[in-house]
Amino acid sequence: MRRVYLDNNATTPALPEVLEAMRPYFAEQFGNASSIHHHGQQTRAAVERARESVAELLGCRAAEVVFTSGGTEADNLALFGLVEKGDHVVTSTIEHHAVLNSAKRLEEMGCEVTYVPVDGQGRVDPEDVRRALRPNTKFISVMMANNETGVLQPVEEIGKIAAEADVYFHTDAVQAAGKVPIDVERIGCDLLSISGHKMHAPQGTGALYVRKGTLLRPLFYGGNHERSRRAGTENVPGIIGLGKAAEMAVAALAAGEMERLGALRDRIQTTLLESIEATGVNGEGAPRVPTTTNIYFDFIEGEAMVIALDLKGLAISTGAACSSGAIEPSHVLTAIGLRPERARASLRFSLGKQNTAEDVDFALSVLPEAVARLRELSPVYKKQEAAAPTKAK
Ligand SMILES: Cc1ncc(COP(=O)(O)O)c(C=O)c1O
Repeated sequence: MRRVYLDNNATTPALPEVLEAMRPYFAEQFGNASSIHHHGQQTRAAVERARESVAELLGCRAAEVVFTSGGTEADNLALFGLVEKGDHVVTSTIEHHAVLNSAKRLEEMGCEVTYVPVDGQGRVDPEDVRRALRPNTKFISVMMANNETGVLQPVEEIGKIAAEADVYFHTDAVQAAGKVPIDVERIGCDLLSISGHKMHAPQGTGALYVRKGTLLRPLFYGGNHERSRRAGTENVPGIIGLGKAAEMAVAALAAGEMERLGALRDRIQTTLLESIEATGVNGEGAPRVPTTTNIYFDFIEGEAMVIALDLKGLAISTGAACSSGAIEPSHVLTAIGLRPERARASLRFSLGKQNTAEDVDFALSVLPEAVARLRELSPVYKKQEAAAPTKAK
């Protein structure tokens, strides 16, 4: 059976070159990067080369990159590393749970948190961030690209506001890295999170950019790894994989790979909207990463659709992988203003470098029929069809 994977915001396959780069570090070059002998030094050099590659992707210095176990740890390290009891934090309602649940925990610990809303396109208004500032505001955390809609946030404007107010600015760039250029100086952030498995490196890898001079409390206590910012023997093969993926992401961005994927994404979107009634794009008109589109198909149940499409060989998602299984409508889509039924009727299509035009042809060949079938089962759809046999979109 043919299987096509269009759920790359949940995770991406490691690229063959990434695997090849990692391979020697499991057995032949197994040294502990903290050891002073030949084996350790060989590994240390490789880790530092990977750090350079990640720094190049982010436009920062290698010494400002802290390797972590992924995006969740990077987000936690940023928030818990700087915020203290009594501090005020500004974040948004559409953050990933790695930030939202950390913010909730900060509230339990005696911090105050303001969750700024988004507009109908899923964008934060930087002026809302400015208005939320208080004398005790220590930290702003607003993501660079949303994982469900792909909508890019006005991080440069927020960076300016943070600088003017002398407040730390963190951005979760997990869904932006490799898809749009990142330059921490332009953004003006003090901290920025990335995750390996969203950019064709292995799961369980990631990094936090920490601006020079930012004094971060570590999450773990142990050895002096990562300049005492993240204790624990480094995941060397994972770090090498992340470094290789970062290097390849820089090259792919320069070679126009995102234009290719953007054209495929646009074809999915245009074809579905033209051929299926009662559909629309969530976040339409907003700047987005080129690899993601989130489309509502009124009168269907997203979860049922994911299962129906999976049986036909197409993997997509109703929202963040981390919240799949939950019946609650997506917090991102409801924050945009979608009513719960429409949020539940929304599907996310996300492309990765392995995807081809044939993958898109396949998706477009199975989708219309699957939507029609599910709508046949919908009493609401039948009722309104009877009332108005020719429906406007
Ligand atoms: C925006 C965003 N932040 C953070 C994470 C968490 O990253 P990780 O899976 O590497 O812990 C994800 C994963 O879905 C994400 O999409």
